[in-house]
Amino acid sequence: MKHLLSTGDLTRDEAVHILDTAEELLGVAQRPIKKLPTLRGRTVVNLFFEDSTRTRISFEAAAKRLSADVITFSAKGSSTSKGEGLKDTALTLQAMGADAVVVRHSASGAPHRLAHAQWSRGAVVNAGDGTHEHPTQALLDAFTMRRHLVEGDRHQRAGVGADLAGKHVTIVGDVLHSRVARSNALLLHTLGAHVRLVAPPTLLPVGVDSWPVETSYDLDAAVEKTDVLMMLRVQEERMNASYFPSAREYSRRFGLDVARMNRLPEHAIVMHPGPMNRGMEITADVADSERSVIVEQVTNGVAVRMAVLYLLLGGAPTSDDAVSTMEGGA
Ligand code: ASP
Ligand code: CP
Repeated sequence: MKHLLSTGDLTRDEAVHILDTAEELLGVAQRPIKKLPTLRGRTVVNLFFEDSTRTRISFEAAAKRLSADVITFSAKGSSTSKGEGLKDTALTLQAMGADAVVVRHSASGAPHRLAHAQWSRGAVVNAGDGTHEHPTQALLDAFTMRRHLVEGDRHQRAGVGADLAGKHVTIVGDVLHSRVARSNALLLHTLGAHVRLVAPPTLLPVGVDSWPVETSYDLDAAVEKTDVLMMLRVQEERMNASYFPSAREYSRRFGLDVARMNRLPEHAIVMHPGPMNRGMEITADVADSERSVIVEQVTNGVAVRMAVLYLLLGGAPTSDDAVSTMEGGA
C-alpha cells in the first residue's frame, strides 16, 4: 500500500490487516506513556483545506503517538487567502520534507492529484475529499463494528482476523453529500457485510445503482433487521437546493429518536461520524444513550489512523511482526 485514497482500493486481507494492527495499537492509548518510537525521524504533514475537528486532531495524535514529527497546515490563516493553490502549497510543504501527507479538501479527487501528479513524494492519505471519500472514517467505523459485533477467539482480542461477513449495516440520511457513505459502502462490501442505504430519493446520488448496496426510502421497515444503524449528518453547507420540505418533516421520516431506536434488535449499535446535528438526524437522548458508540468511534479513530500511518511509513510486515516490532521498541 503506497497511498490510502479510496477504500475501493483495499482488498479484504489488506483491510483486515489494518483493523488487526489498529486492534494492537488501541492498547497503547491505555498505557501511562502513550508513545511508541516506531516513526521517529519521519514527518507527517496534515494538510487541511477544509474544517475538521476529529480527523485533524486524531491524525495529529496518531502521528505523535508513533513519535513522528507533525506539521499541521490549516487553510485558514495561510497563504491560501492570497490565492495559493493545492499544487504550490503541496510543493512548499514537500520542500520541508514530508514522508506522509494527510489531506482534506473540498474538491473531490484532490488527494488523487497530489498522489499522481507527484506534488508530494510521500504517501498520501485521503482525510476527506469533497463528496467523494473518507477512507479512514470507514476503517474506524468498521473497526468499531467489529469490536461490538464479532467476538475474537479466547486468546485474541475482539474480532482479530475476522471480517464483517453477514452483518447488516443501515446507513441513513444525506448520502448525496456524504463521503462517509461511499467509503463505508465500498469497505463494508469488501468485508462481507450487507449495506442498505435509507434516504429520501432527493438525497441519493445518481449512479447509486452501481454501488454494492440496497436502497430504501423507509427507515421504519429497515430498523428491525439491522446490526448497525449509522446516521449521517444533513450536510447543509454542501446543499445548493432544497432537498426536503422542512427539518421537521426530515426528522420525522429519517431521524432517529428513542421510539425508533427501541425497535432495533437488542444487540444493534447506533453510529454517527460526527459532527452531529442534534435534534435533526438524531435526537440528543439517542446520541447520549447506551446504544450509541459515537464517542468510541472517535477513540478508535486514533488507533486506526496510527495503523494506517504505521503501515504506510513503516512497511507492511505481517500483523505479528508489526506488533512485536512495536512492542519490542516500546
Ligand atoms: N465529518 C465527516 C466528513 O467530514 C462527516 C460530516 O461532516 O458529516 O465527511
Ligand atoms: N468525522 C469527521 O470526519 O469529523 P471532522 O469533520 O470533525 O473531522
